[in-house]
Amino acid sequence: MILILDFGSQYTRLIARRIRESNVYCEIHPFNVSLETIRDLNPEGIVLSGGPASVYRESAPQVREELFETPVPFLGICYGMGIINRAGGGAVAEARQREYGPADLIIDDPRDLFHGFTPLEPTPVWMSHGDQMTAVPEGWLTLAHSSNSPIAAFVDPGRRLFGVQFHPEVTHTSKGKEILDNFLFRICKCEPTWTMPHFIETSVQSIRNRVGDSRVLCALSGGVDSSVAATLVHRAVGDRLLCIFVNNGLLRAGEAEDVCELGKRFGRGFHYVDASVRFLEGLKGVLDPEEKRRRIGHLFIEVFEEEAQKLGDYPFLVQGTLYPDVIESVSAIGPSATIKSHHNVGGLPTEMRFQIVEPLRELFKDEVRRLGQELDLPMDLIIRQPFPGPGLAVRILGDVTEPRLRILREADAIVAHEMKAASYYDRVWQSFAVLVPNRTVGVMGDERSYEYLIALRVVESQDGMTAQWVPLPADLLGRISNRIINEVRGAGRVVYDISSKPPATIEWE
Ligand code: XMP
Repeated sequence: MILILDFGSQYTRLIARRIRESNVYCEIHPFNVSLETIRDLNPEGIVLSGGPASVYRESAPQVREELFETPVPFLGICYGMGIINRAGGGAVAEARQREYGPADLIIDDPRDLFHGFTPLEPTPVWMSHGDQMTAVPEGWLTLAHSSNSPIAAFVDPGRRLFGVQFHPEVTHTSKGKEILDNFLFRICKCEPTWTMPHFIETSVQSIRNRVGDSRVLCALSGGVDSSVAATLVHRAVGDRLLCIFVNNGLLRAGEAEDVCELGKRFGRGFHYVDASVRFLEGLKGVLDPEEKRRRIGHLFIEVFEEEAQKLGDYPFLVQGTLYPDVIESVSAIGPSATIKSHHNVGGLPTEMRFQIVEPLRELFKDEVRRLGQELDLPMDLIIRQPFPGPGLAVRILGDVTEPRLRILREADAIVAHEMKAASYYDRVWQSFAVLVPNRTVGVMGDERSYEYLIALRVVESQDGMTAQWVPLPADLLGRISNRIINEVRGAGRVVYDISSKPPATIEWE
């Protein structure tokens, strides 16, 4: 494995993604992780990420000298390069000019990191730094430069310490993959063994070791994460897995049926509870969004516990925690530290009496999707957009009733269908309809109509924390609007939400 030490760069996760795309396993840890942990992880190489600070500032994150006694190659990127240079006795100073954006890198020495590159031929790289290397320690070599950075890459040939000023992990660095691959395979001698079949094999084994002969419970929601987690655990423990699917009556069109179809894979290990009437009762007259969330959350736990108790003794519970949640909880500084999981409604509280099995906690979302493919899950499920735990209840402003749910489901199905037909569905973060239960006047045929308003919400986002509204092509918007007004009884007008987050949230409630 490769260890990435995080100094707070916005690109740290990208480094991890790139390394894993080359089929090498890696983990992100805070820059100040203990040397014992590093020894236990037993990495084949260490990458020091970039970071927002300047190395010569008092408050800048530093590492202990002993770190460099770890007998493996190091690659410092940007801030990480400065850390290595300073530790070796080189000089780092504030650059006269901050450099941000594209630059041409000239390779002076096509060895190691730049194996396969042509000397003196410019290659585009992405720069984002305020510090600059002004001198490297004696015996170290400058491998590349740019017009603004006389030392844009270096090596300490003795200890195999490398540094690059630019960001090889960013796609604007056109040969970034070659550079990282040279580090992984030529320098660290890693093997490209991190593949989904290999992941399945090792995690099936570790789930078996963990749960022994015990039985395992899983709350299946129909989302990608819980479906993939359940399928993987099912491979490991077979009949000893029991999936409970609680239909809260707030799902999209066809979703409950899809989950039941998926449930067939688990044979007798699938338990369906239709609690839609109970949820709808519980939501009657509730207008406040947070109160909706609270009630739905409580009801879910109530129903789940009732069912679980009926079904016998289950010491283990599967949860679909992903790697970004894990990084958030360990990160010391930077963007990773400030991104908090903002919603946890519709899930189970961690203080429940179960021991938790989290088979996806090493994976990024795109890896979960690849794993889903490898496990033969239906493509429709794999590409499914995120859907909030409280479901359509937070997409109907105000009172949630059966007739309103019907209208929203029909409108939402049209949005999804047209987005897929135009190949936009999997290019955006979320695309859905919102029901505004205010009546608006229209003419249908020769008659005056007085019906509900439907809003379309289509956003791009990395993680749901910020989002941009998507300027969909006018003809696609037109098709969606026409179909909703013509086909959905009760919907009289369609508007497009052009607010970004912040300040608007993605959901309307
Ligand atoms: P907002 O509306 O806060 O949404 O911009 C950000 C992301 O979170 C989802 N979301 C929820 N997910 N329970 C969930 O499990 C909730 O109560 C909830 N509210 C919003 C939303 O769909 C978006 O992806």
